[in-house]
Amino acid sequence: MANILVIHGPNLNLLGIREPEIYGRTTLEEINTGINNIARQYGAEAICFQSNSEGEIINIIHRESKNVECIILNPGAYTHYSIAIADAIKAVNVPAIEVHLSNIFGREEFRQRSVIAPAVVGQISGFGSFSYQLAVYAALNIIKERENK
Ligand code: DQA
Repeated sequence: MANILVIHGPNLNLLGIREPEIYGRTTLEEINTGINNIARQYGAEAICFQSNSEGEIINIIHRESKNVECIILNPGAYTHYSIAIADAIKAVNVPAIEVHLSNIFGREEFRQRSVIAPAVVGQISGFGSFSYQLAVYAALNIIKERENK
């Protein structure tokens, strides 16, 4: 069975109440349920984590990447400056997808740059909680393509 690692970065534990006009009213728990429903439909399993700390996110990537075929990551504000998280993704050699609820390219200038982007296969940004569901389909497709090689 394919495993997908899902990591939610800082402040995403507050989804539902955090700036709902930007991030919507769906809670993190509801997002994780939606992710798992799609993954299971296709015979995969999603392993979901949330952390507010950069070091812990890196530790999760190191530890869990051994057991997964793909990583889905919303690095939160770390998107814009964490070279350490980008390096961790490159180091583990597991394909990764970057996800954002908001369209980071339509927001403040400092949010329009992702230092994570060069380390991932692709980015999904701007579809609210549905961004995660799109990311699961992308992950399943990456896994299927790799199996067929
Ligand atoms: C975010 C966008 C980031 O700029 C912000 O710091 C977040 C959430 C998003 O999902 O839209 O925490 O990653």
